[in-house]
Amino acid sequence: MHIRSGTTLKHSDVTPKRDWLRRREFLGAAAASALLPGSAGAMGLMAARSPLSTDAELTPREYVTGYNNFYEFGVGKEDPAAYAGRLTTKPWSVVIDGLVENPGTYALEDLYAPGDLEERIYRLRCVEGWSMVIPWIGFPLSQVLAMAEPQSSARYVAFETLVRPEEMPKQTGLFQPLDWPYVEGLRLDEAANPLTILAIGLYGETLPNQNGAPLRLVVPWKYGYKSIKSIVRISLVAEQPPTTWNIQNAREYGFYSNVNPEVDHPRWSQAVERVIGGGLGAQRDTEMFNGYGDQVASLYSGMDLRKFH
Ligand code: MTE
Repeated sequence: MHIRSGTTLKHSDVTPKRDWLRRREFLGAAAASALLPGSAGAMGLMAARSPLSTDAELTPREYVTGYNNFYEFGVGKEDPAAYAGRLTTKPWSVVIDGLVENPGTYALEDLYAPGDLEERIYRLRCVEGWSMVIPWIGFPLSQVLAMAEPQSSARYVAFETLVRPEEMPKQTGLFQPLDWPYVEGLRLDEAANPLTILAIGLYGETLPNQNGAPLRLVVPWKYGYKSIKSIVRISLVAEQPPTTWNIQNAREYGFYSNVNPEVDHPRWSQAVERVIGGGLGAQRDTEMFNGYGDQVASLYSGMDLRKFH
């Protein structure tokens, strides 16, 4: 394969051609039969359910899309649904840079082949003490990393959200709740774990803006704030990158942010969670690593999870 540095590579360039063509054929047929009537600009998306899904009961869609954190649009839970509609998400491109062999500006559509899309049902456990079960549609972040080809010195992945004050009202004015851009990071092995996905949809449709359209991270064994929305940059770096909530309050929010019922937030317990949409008083015990201990505990063997919270 011939690769020029700084060029734009498509997913098809690194997928064996035969697989690529087969996927295209599959998708052509699927797309013709599966386009669902969309709501408010959302487009139908078809994807087979991944066995990595939880079988827990889904949170009703109106909660998933109506009770959000997206501080670029306000700090209230209803602000994102009310104000994110003005965000333009087409066209969208993502800069991939830093310690990679194939840096470039990639169109969103070139980050995945349509046949790569899967439905992944994951529980999102928010550090605030509530949780939802969401049918995401996305693809493994590891595919994008493979396309970018990290250099051997790369040890972390840094992510950045869009800065566009004209469309994101809390990025301008006197009260700005956070420093912009919103930034997040993962260790490279966490980023490459098969559970880690980039989502472009939920509930069978393209992502509503309030959920981080058109591309957001989902890391199911970490608190919800790690799942950075409306991503415009993915950088491979050597040192642990800064993360928004850690910058805001390092004592309360660490870099790792693994769901851990045994390590309380300094101001409240993390042992139980309120089940959003589950009715009055519905709650459940929070599970270590949000239930994914078998798959991810080994990433942290020998680490003091109280210190590296
Ligand atoms: N990403 C950006 N850019 N800005 C934000 O304010 N909030 C985070 C995370 N990603 C946030 C963000 C927090 S605190 C949570 S709990 C989840 O998004 C919420 O995702 P959801 O609204 O889709 O449930």
